Amino acid sequence: MTDCATATIRTATAADAAAIARVHVETWRDAYAGLIPNQVLLKMSHRDHVAMWSAELARGRGANMVIVAHEARAGVVGFGSCGRARGSDLPYAGEVYTLYVHPDFQEMAIGRRLLDALFHRLLEDGFRSALVWVLAGNPARFFYQAMGGTHVAVRTERLWGTALKEMAYGWADISQAVGRPGSRSTV
Ligand SMILES: CC(C)(COP(=O)(O)OP(=O)(O)OC[C@H]1O[C@@H](n2cnc3c(N)ncnc32)[C@H](O)[C@@H]1OP(=O)(O)O)[C@@H](O)C(=O)NCCC(=O)NCCS
Repeated sequence: MTDCATATIRTATAADAAAIARVHVETWRDAYAGLIPNQVLLKMSHRDHVAMWSAELARGRGANMVIVAHEARAGVVGFGSCGRARGSDLPYAGEVYTLYVHPDFQEMAIGRRLLDALFHRLLEDGFRSALVWVLAGNPARFFYQAMGGTHVAVRTERLWGTALKEMAYGWADISQAVGRPGSRSTV
């Protein structure tokens, strides 16, 4: 087992694109099997995701914010991104767009520390509230509940030819949610 104490939480740089893409693809395949069509997971391409994350990181600060968890031996083992809330009229200013911890590094408090860092970033950028959308069938929603999120909405999105139910978890005041024990970061 890897010692989670060596994981540093920091802002992503352009050099992290390939590692973020690897964690993205491997974590999706692990977490979403049975939740989204197998073909979608099988066709996920590392190269496409490197291009996507390279473009995202090239937009720099002021665009969406990307944070990574970097472990001394394994490199990037988790990441998250956030920014202005998109596509809903719910009363939440910020949104957690992505939050993924590689299966080999889950349940080591890395997800908590990444979420804490994302909330800090949102606060710095003037967003006092936030929400996250999660597939209703994804047990990760209980993680957001454990992090103090309140179930605030449901929607059905048509993706990959399938109707997928999603649930939103919201934090009305993210300043109350940051800084729990074990959430120390170097962002
Ligand atoms: C969800 C995820 C980000 C959580 O990260 P993690 O590093 O495994 O979680 P942590 O170790 O920081 O857990 C923090 C707390 O949440 C709890 N928790 C984590 N996942 C949980 C789950 N699925 N159900 C219930 N509680 C959970 C932990 O037990 C821990 O509680 P504690 O502080 O009382 O001990 C991670 O498991 C993941 O990437 N999952 C797959 C991808 C995914 O679905 N991401 C979300 C997309 S919206």
